[in-house]
Amino acid sequence: MKQSSQVVLITGCSSGFGLLTAIELAKKYHVIATMRNLDSRKEFDRLCGIHQVSMDLLELDVNDINTISNVVDVIESKYGYLDVLINNAGYLQLGFCCDIAIDELESQFQTNFFGCHRMIRSMIHLLSKSKQAKIINLSSVAGLSSIPFMGAYNGSKFALEGYSESLYYELKPKGIQVCLVEPGLYQTKILENLKIANNTGQNQSLFKESGDFILSILPSFKNRSSKDPLIVVRLLCSIVEKPRLRFRYLIGFTAQLRAVFRWSVPFSVYSYFVQLGFNLLLKKRFSK
Ligand SMILES: NC(=O)c1ccc[n+]([C@@H]2O[C@H](COP(=O)([O-])OP(=O)(O)OC[C@H]3O[C@@H](n4cnc5c(N)ncnc54)[C@H](OP(=O)(O)O)[C@@H]3O)[C@@H](O)[C@H]2O)c1
Repeated sequence: MKQSSQVVLITGCSSGFGLLTAIELAKKYHVIATMRNLDSRKEFDRLCGIHQVSMDLLELDVNDINTISNVVDVIESKYGYLDVLINNAGYLQLGFCCDIAIDELESQFQTNFFGCHRMIRSMIHLLSKSKQAKIINLSSVAGLSSIPFMGAYNGSKFALEGYSESLYYELKPKGIQVCLVEPGLYQTKILENLKIANNTGQNQSLFKESGDFILSILPSFKNRSSKDPLIVVRLLCSIVEKPRLRFRYLIGFTAQLRAVFRWSVPFSVYSYFVQLGFNLLLKKRFSK
């Protein structure tokens, strides 16, 4: 028997924030954890065992409306309503903008942006039956300020930010709260799962040498330690708990610093430092 009758749906629970949040929330709430490939459930099963929690686990690919419809049917028949939708599924596409093929850019937007929209459109009737409905969209500090080599990801998260702001106003009168969670870099599988534009470092690329260099340093970047994902998980759990939400939850000191700097100085000053950092990184190529 769960302490709360609230029903929470989370996308992308095979790893990272989605998996850990599902485990934490299942201690109290009715959680519907979803993943696009149930063969990836090993870690999920292991953590459920360790924490002695149980929840529904369903297949859901945010790009496949049939899997989403199946989940709607299950929630409809089992609970009849949905209190919280956590749009977590996403991945990181890297590459110089001019190297990113249209299909690579489309895939990034399909998952990170259209995937959230598909989920919201499909779940809105179930959410409207709740008296305390919330939609929590996983954005990023990358949705507030851009850096080179991340144009596709930046674009998808900027889109999610603008969309969520409209949604916030539209759903407020209906009693459905919308918020954005904007983390900096945390130790999930995001770097392991990242995709790099196929054209990176290829002869036809305008940035062949820089691309080659970035590909050569990428393994050390992937291994670099970043912050404990449980910090974000705790924030997500507290948002589910809170009766009234803020619209933005920007989390992590460097993320906050980056966002404050982005918005408190003129773009000419901000861009000078981003460009300087990028030029210094590429310069390392010559001093190797
Ligand atoms: N970690 C960070 O530093 C960070 C910072 C800012 C924002 N975020 C955001 O946080 C969210 C979660 O990322 P994470 O850091 O936890 O990374 P992660 O460990 O790689 O988890 C991403 C999850 O999304 C799932 N996913 C990808 N494409 C999907 C699709 N089409 N349908 C359903 N699920 C899909 C993945 O499933 P598969 O295993 O099947 O690929 C995985 O379960 C993302 O939206 C990410 O942009 C992360």
